[in-house]
Amino acid sequence: MANEDQPTSGTLPFKVPEPPPPPPVRASSKSTTILKAPPPKPAPAPGAPNLPAPPVAGEPTVKLTIDGEHVEVRKGTNVLEAAKMLGRDICHFCYHPGLSIAASCRQCLVEVEKMPKLQPSCQQIVAEGMVVHTESPAVLEARRAMLEFTLKNHPIDCPICDKAGECILQRHYMDHDHELTRVDVPKIRKPKHKDIGRDIVLDAERCILCSRCVRFCEEIPGTGELGMMNRGDHEILDIANGHRLDNPYSVNVVDICPVGALTSKDFRFQVRAWELKATFTTCPGCATGCAVELHTKHETAYRLVPRYDPAVNGHWMCDPGRLTYKETAPEERVRYAKVDGEDVPLGHAIATAARRLRGRTRKVAVVFSAQASNEANAALADLADLLEAERFIVGKPNWQGDDILRDTDQNPNTRGALTAAGLARHEGELGLELAGRAYEAVVFLDGTFELSEVVRTSLKSLPSICLADRWTPLAESCTVVLPAVSWAETLGSFVNRQGRLRVLQPAWRPEGDRRERADLLRDLVMALGEQDLPTSRERSRTLAEQHDNDELRALSAMPTAARPTLLRFTHTRG
Ligand code: SF4
Ligand code: SF4
Ligand code: FES
Repeated sequence: MANEDQPTSGTLPFKVPEPPPPPPVRASSKSTTILKAPPPKPAPAPGAPNLPAPPVAGEPTVKLTIDGEHVEVRKGTNVLEAAKMLGRDICHFCYHPGLSIAASCRQCLVEVEKMPKLQPSCQQIVAEGMVVHTESPAVLEARRAMLEFTLKNHPIDCPICDKAGECILQRHYMDHDHELTRVDVPKIRKPKHKDIGRDIVLDAERCILCSRCVRFCEEIPGTGELGMMNRGDHEILDIANGHRLDNPYSVNVVDICPVGALTSKDFRFQVRAWELKATFTTCPGCATGCAVELHTKHETAYRLVPRYDPAVNGHWMCDPGRLTYKETAPEERVRYAKVDGEDVPLGHAIATAARRLRGRTRKVAVVFSAQASNEANAALADLADLLEAERFIVGKPNWQGDDILRDTDQNPNTRGALTAAGLARHEGELGLELAGRAYEAVVFLDGTFELSEVVRTSLKSLPSICLADRWTPLAESCTVVLPAVSWAETLGSFVNRQGRLRVLQPAWRPEGDRRERADLLRDLVMALGEQDLPTSRERSRTLAEQHDNDELRALSAMPTAARPTLLRFTHTRG
């Protein structure tokens, strides 16, 4: 009997024992590996040194007055964060709540009574009885003058700048300066479009020397590739000779750069920021389940950026996770059902799948997916019960994790899939048993699983049903393909490595006949002449109650599948 806890070389983070026995004629779950969920891992979120401002029960607090309004905040909070609690967004550049405080831009100056000079609100810690003015004439003039100084050598190439529309300098200029330049000498020129890394291009002329990117590289990945060179008007941000900005978290510097000095090679010149809509969802790149915004135009995704979640990812996400949106590319989508290679109406494909499953004389294999949602896996478990099927679980192979965010498990929902599947066996055994023709039919929840060509060829000669959102070698080998939604169109959930429910919400309405996997399986069960099953949305509601998750509860109560998305320019970046 296999030891369930014994580490082996399986591609899932769960361990398979020694090589499986020769392909049996008929497999039995009693004789093989049963996978189980690993213990929860602690929160990986890198600390946010300056948050949060609200008082926490039992912790010392401080009362102060800001612009005549009283506020009570946690002791140690800075004035800038305290002002946010009153809805006052003090104009700033170099401060970022996830990084140490440099207080170098002097854009956030405020007046503090009994102090002789204006103080940087990002650095000024609150004190009992402190009286702060953020809109006094002296503050307004200092703010305007600092903006004029920052813009002195700025190129003002907004029409061709990738950050235009979401640039903090643009926003502050419109709000606090809005004057013509008084500079009548040539501006200092600096290097433009310098390739400094795998994903990053630097335009040093646009840089306002806030040092956010320098502090990020030193404090989060700890790689310290960037630094300030030269002095005075000739000071520039640059990368040390012979180095590249290639750490696995490098693109976060693009998000936190307040201007368009650091741009992403993947995103630059693709679309303007104001054309994008943002949907709050979850990165499917690994078991961490970082909170993200998916930025889309019409039915196409253009980028993923991190969304602040103190319990999971803080302010950051990794570079490979940002590219997961490419799996949703329109050209790869399965839009309509196929039976034996022919496009058919969805109802016809489901009826065919049901007829072929009903006519079987031997056992069926169902294949759960660590890439699919809890709702989809739970629906497959119901089908497996009905067919008394052998259960397998598949997922992407492990990759390199780290101590910051990335988990070695490249699947977003291994825990959820294992919970739904119950007693499931490892994918390694599935390939051998399919090759040995141990099953008369097989149902795949997802088409991303890699099988050898021999096994894929064998799928063509038996009822093989695949719920696929994009064309993959596995989907192309199956005799019945049902069009499913991708994670970007799904209303559903994963369970991450901490055991937390992570919510997916649809960024656009699915095209063609694409449907939630749980709903496709429900239709299949009904076509088999069996009892009604919960819809995908009903399963989400149940999960929301089980995990007491307000976000999923609210989304699953909405009448339409795709909720209205937010307009992009909502100041969630920077
Ligand atoms: S490149 Fe951007 S983040 Fe870095 S110092 Fe310049 S303005 Fe700041
Ligand atoms: S750490 Fe994992 S979940 Fe987070 S962004 Fe990277 S791939 Fe996505
Ligand atoms: S934000 Fe406070 S000095 Fe820069």
